[in-house]
Amino acid sequence: MYLCSMIDNRVILSAPIQGWTDHVWRTAHAQVFGGVDAYYAPFMRVEHGTIRPRDIRDILPENNPGIHLVPQVLACRPDDMERMLNAVADMGYGEVDINLGCPHPPVARKGNGAGMLARPEALRQMFDTLSRHPSLRFSLKLRLGWDDASQWHNVLPLLDVAPITQVIIHYRLGIQQYKGEAMLDRIGETLDAIKVPVVLNGDIDSTERIGQLLTAHQQAAGVMVGRALVADPALLCPDRATPACYRDFHDLLYEQYRKELTGGDHQILNKMQSLWERMLPNADHRARKAIRKATTLARYEDAVAQLIN
Ligand SMILES: Cc1cc2nc3c(=O)[nH]c(=O)nc-3n(C[C@H](O)[C@H](O)[C@H](O)COP(=O)(O)O)c2cc1C
Repeated sequence: MYLCSMIDNRVILSAPIQGWTDHVWRTAHAQVFGGVDAYYAPFMRVEHGTIRPRDIRDILPENNPGIHLVPQVLACRPDDMERMLNAVADMGYGEVDINLGCPHPPVARKGNGAGMLARPEALRQMFDTLSRHPSLRFSLKLRLGWDDASQWHNVLPLLDVAPITQVIIHYRLGIQQYKGEAMLDRIGETLDAIKVPVVLNGDIDSTERIGQLLTAHQQAAGVMVGRALVADPALLCPDRATPACYRDFHDLLYEQYRKELTGGDHQILNKMQSLWERMLPNADHRARKAIRKATTLARYEDAVAQLIN
């Protein structure tokens, strides 16, 4: 039984997590577990005048078969934004998410991501660019602010002039990065002020929590779940939290990364070990350690067989 089928008219979204929820993870997740209404891709961006090729590869429709994918873009320069919106429209997408939440200081200092929340003029220019793309629908993924929890108000006047159909709020400040608790006590004020559907995000880590939040906030359009879904890919469909499903999921990831990563065994091993930094954190401690310490793919496979059996 999927949780999303039990929550009338609310959405459950998979959050973008750079380095984890790429097309390989998303398609394997949808195939084995699912329970998600849409997957949000980690942000794409322009570097040295071109969109990073791996960002393009990650969202190509043929690399995301059978899933509802929403590409995300991060830019503060209107021409960079323009370039990415044209690219996603050319790929056939009708919906794009705008990143106003990235907290990394080198990104934010340039007025990108969460940094833009403190710059109303840059926000306005960006919204002008969005208005020039009537064929696209936009969502915004924002934090409460960069360094002040009232900066989200800066987007309010713009919601009336740009085609924004949904706002996803990560209830932290940019300067908090991912530390401290999400300020979920601020949900009420955002729901009262924002006239488009609002999706809640931040530290939503169990089905009980989803139920509590959506019961307490009937106006909320849904929730977006990030790290907890990477930690337990069966989070939203508990009856699939079985060794067989985890095994299938792992094997799909492993098989696909072996095909796509061309830098040799070491690169594949690194990729899989980095996934295990977050995945199934409460699984057998010794097997997790053996995965971490594996220096060959054969040892890695043995360790995974110990962990998922
Ligand atoms: C390593 C990492 C990478 C992330 N990458 C992105 C990203 O590319 N775009 C984005 O909007 N949010 C990104 N986020 C933020 C998550 O989407 C989410 O908003 C945040 O983790 C809070 O939700 P959670 O507590 O459910 O994980 C990232 C978070 C982490 C930890």
